Amino acid sequence: MTTLDELTADPHPVLARLRAATPVAWVPVLDGWLVTGYGLAQQVMRDAATFTVDDPRFSTATVVGPSMLSLDGAVHARHRDPFVPPFRPAPVRDRYAAFVAKSTAGLIDALLPRGAAELRADFAGPLALSVVADALGLTGVDASAVRTWYAALVASVSAVTAGSPPTPEGAAAFRELGEHVHRTIADPSSDSLLTGIDLEQDEIVANAAVLMFGGIDTTESMIANLVLHLLSHPDALAAVRADRTLLPNAIEESLRFEPAASVVDRYATRDVTIAGADIARGDLVRVSIAGANRDPAVFAAPDTFDVHRPNARVNLAFALGPHFCLGARLARVEAEIAMTALLDRMPRLRLAEPVTPSGLVFRKPPTLPVRWD
Ligand code: HEM
Repeated sequence: MTTLDELTADPHPVLARLRAATPVAWVPVLDGWLVTGYGLAQQVMRDAATFTVDDPRFSTATVVGPSMLSLDGAVHARHRDPFVPPFRPAPVRDRYAAFVAKSTAGLIDALLPRGAAELRADFAGPLALSVVADALGLTGVDASAVRTWYAALVASVSAVTAGSPPTPEGAAAFRELGEHVHRTIADPSSDSLLTGIDLEQDEIVANAAVLMFGGIDTTESMIANLVLHLLSHPDALAAVRADRTLLPNAIEESLRFEPAASVVDRYATRDVTIAGADIARGDLVRVSIAGANRDPAVFAAPDTFDVHRPNARVNLAFALGPHFCLGARLARVEAEIAMTALLDRMPRLRLAEPVTPSGLVFRKPPTLPVRWD
């Protein structure tokens, strides 16, 4: 019997077992189906008419209202489409990359004299936060205000997931975020990506909150996992140090090996049978991205971290289909700039103690203690 503890600590052996026996398995402890095969994960994520995010059980929508994250079909496209242009490669390169580089350099400048740091709290977290705050570009709002609202909203979503009502702090944070979004939209000098978005103001506020949900913890975890994977695989680290053109593939391999968002949830809109599993209308269907990313039918020796892996890039860390991660390009740019700076500026960067990623949905090392010379 699969337990929550197993899935939280080290899910990979469990996922491998499930995939081999029943790639769409009913997992009582999740009160839902778990999809662990690569092709089946693709099928579920592409078929939003059968497997939707639009369900009252989806806790984020209870806290921030309907957004691209919680809608499907034409109304999803209406919410998502206006946000697509700023996240395309050219704007990411021209508008955000310089900010990422400056922010990264500032964080490393502050750490450098110390010789040791906890890179999640002191580097990856603040970097991810500052980039989302910069992208939102709310008039008169700094990153620490964004962090406070974000923490209150996450706590409120967690409360709803646990069956309680949204928290008053979450409601207050959402109100404040809303006021600042309204002020920013009315500010003719603002270069926020929210200005010019052709949606109702409440819809813009909900999607602004979703950019925070999408881009802060996930990117922090993505960078922490990347640093951890390279520092705990000396051959891989040496290969990337010797040939920096390997870094983009090392980033893809890290996303494959331990995707920061390891599952995405869907709800069946009708009775449907896939891979022999009789899924009933309304059932929760959880797609294990972590499981799909180690499917031996697609990735040879899937439990090996291999920065030379030729097809690392077909990993599903950013999902697929209509909800494919809007910030994938930006997140990749952040990881590349961050890792390059760490390698360049912290000689003999190494782990100060062994750590491993954990978490049921979001996976990352609890801390990332490192030293350098
Ligand atoms: C700057 C960073 C990021 C931003 C702004 C961002 C934003 C978003 C947004 C707005 C969505 C919802 C798209 C939709 O529903 O149509 C999304 C989806 C998603 N993002 Fe990101 N994201 C970022 C980084 C990441 C990272 C680092 C990961 C994991 C490695 C990630 C994984 C995902 C996944 C798996 C989904 C799909 C959710 C689902 O299908 O239910 N994102 N992202």
